[in-house]
Amino acid sequence: MNDQFSSTPNLTRAQAAEAAEDIGSNVSTNATIGDVIATRLARRDVLRGALGVAALAGIAPLALDRALAQAVSSPRLPFKEIAAGSSEQHLVADGYDADVLIRWGDAVLRDAPAFDPMNQTATAQQRQFGYNNDYLGYIPMRGAADPSSHGLLVVNHEYTNEELMFPGIGVQETKAAAFAKMTPELVAIEKAAHGGSVLEIKREAGKWRVEGASTFARRIDAETPMTITGPASGHPRLRTKADPEGRSVRGMLNNCAGGVTPWGTWLSCEENFNGYFWGSANGLPEEKQLKRYGAPANQYAWGKFEERFELAKEPNEINRFGWVVEIDPFDPASAPKKRTALGRMKHEGAEGIVNSDGRYVVYMGDDERFDYVYKFVSEGRFDPANRAANMDLLDRGTLYVARYNADGSGEWMALVHGQGPLIAANGFASQADVLIDTRLAADALGATKMDRPEDVEANPKTGKVYVALTNNSRRTEAQIDKANPRANNRFGHIIEMAPEGSDHSALRFKWEVLVTCGDHTVTTTGASFHAGTTKDGWFGMPDNVAVDPDGRLWVATDGNSPKATGRNDGIWALETEGPMRGQSKHFYRTPNGAEACGPLFTPDGQTMFVAIQHPGEGDDDNAGTFEAPTTRWPDFKPDMPPRPAIVAITKRGGGKIGA
Ligand code: FEO
Ligand code: CA
Ligand code: CA
Ligand code: CA
Repeated sequence: MNDQFSSTPNLTRAQAAEAAEDIGSNVSTNATIGDVIATRLARRDVLRGALGVAALAGIAPLALDRALAQAVSSPRLPFKEIAAGSSEQHLVADGYDADVLIRWGDAVLRDAPAFDPMNQTATAQQRQFGYNNDYLGYIPMRGAADPSSHGLLVVNHEYTNEELMFPGIGVQETKAAAFAKMTPELVAIEKAAHGGSVLEIKREAGKWRVEGASTFARRIDAETPMTITGPASGHPRLRTKADPEGRSVRGMLNNCAGGVTPWGTWLSCEENFNGYFWGSANGLPEEKQLKRYGAPANQYAWGKFEERFELAKEPNEINRFGWVVEIDPFDPASAPKKRTALGRMKHEGAEGIVNSDGRYVVYMGDDERFDYVYKFVSEGRFDPANRAANMDLLDRGTLYVARYNADGSGEWMALVHGQGPLIAANGFASQADVLIDTRLAADALGATKMDRPEDVEANPKTGKVYVALTNNSRRTEAQIDKANPRANNRFGHIIEMAPEGSDHSALRFKWEVLVTCGDHTVTTTGASFHAGTTKDGWFGMPDNVAVDPDGRLWVATDGNSPKATGRNDGIWALETEGPMRGQSKHFYRTPNGAEACGPLFTPDGQTMFVAIQHPGEGDDDNAGTFEAPTTRWPDFKPDMPPRPAIVAITKRGGGKIGA
């Protein structure tokens, strides 16, 4: 079967996921809204923004870049930027400290044994900090004297890299390796390294530490019992041999980004769940639905040892993954809830905002080439005085998908059974079908095919919403449109949306491209950063975004490398307002092989947490391994592999980050 294993030898899991997304699974005939004329207009707009001034002035873009960089410094981002590049050590702007808070294998639960990479066990990993930390959320401790010095840090553990975690096995997910060296015990460790962690953290004398004796500390993994709630709960398509009711499931998978609600819960998003399932979709009753989700992708050995991950044996198990999971971090005994009302897709994140009328609005991206941007609007209203009344707010409401029109307007189209094409004759017999097959329902409504929507986040200061579109090298010239204006979009772009009347429940919005990414001094990239952006300031592949307490936008990247962009991934601050709109500045860069996740600010803006994911990975030619990683960050000991870790960035002497 030619989709069983990644075809390139030595591909790391991240690279394999990127390659799999290259195929794309959106076979709908939705227009990409561009015809040839719109296409030309879009390209002209991009060029005008980036280069028009220079062309009119008759000077080379690089010279203009230097002149502007010297003459103008955004007053909102006065920090001295770092050099773009790569190194085994990470690097933060002058005047800041970047301290490791917790690493893979460190204790989360009180009875966790010390980390011993040569003698790993699943029972140890179930108590220790998991692998590949991604989303970070902070919830101030109730009653804390200083809410920015004591709180709960919630962390997703997205996936595992067997070649970096385990000695002596290398990359196992190639056709040649065929997971031959994966054992049931290694799979059990992998499952325990997935999921999430809840940590109680405190800042004392300016430095953060994990509270070792916390009663809130929790590890969630691929075996944690969870409840399925909302309109699809109990539906026959969610029933399995182990769960004939279709209401309870073991574990969450590939939790990428997420959100924190104002009622103090954590939304954790299942992204590339298709990779964990084993076999082939061919001939199965739900073949069409499976293929629309790129399933099964056979990227882990789990199905080799466990029937529930084998589609032929347990065809409905996969329908129980791909959801937004809501977790109450203040109750370590609570069952996480998979909220089906928010749809099923490769959920990137779920950052929300309380609308002016009190309804809670969650913005979401479906991270696949040519997939869509969504929002959920709760039916009920957030009650700041009654936490219990908010705890099931996400079970009732309306899910919408976005259409971006060429004139800069846009519409949110409701995914409601019985409306328009979402009827039984088209395969949607109920709202449960609409939600389980969210992608197919959105296809039917004619949503706009985007360049891999990652984080989508509202700025509470301005009401505007930012959409990170990470890249899409498969978009052709014939497929470009105003919202996805570049063919072979290797570097991604960021869209800014303005809800009509600043009402996040509105059905209409205005939008424009804030920046197209890449090296803006090279004409052929079509990149459009503000000309005051330096050679260090531009970036590619935006992934997570964050708005700091002063309303400034920060971008974390995934996919930069010496080969791709001449720089490691990292954090950049991006001006969204005033004359410097579109200027970007480099604040932090990751150690070799790592992606930057987060970033996350404490409410006082004085700490930025960053999750450093998969340090030590290699590139296409040379996958980093346990024995030969591209860095041994953060320990730099010869007998210690690189360890995904969380970094706390603070300003020496105190003060706001980046101010
Ligand atoms: Fe896990 Fe879309 O990044
Ligand atoms: Ca991501
Ligand atoms: Ca974010
Ligand atoms: Ca990504």
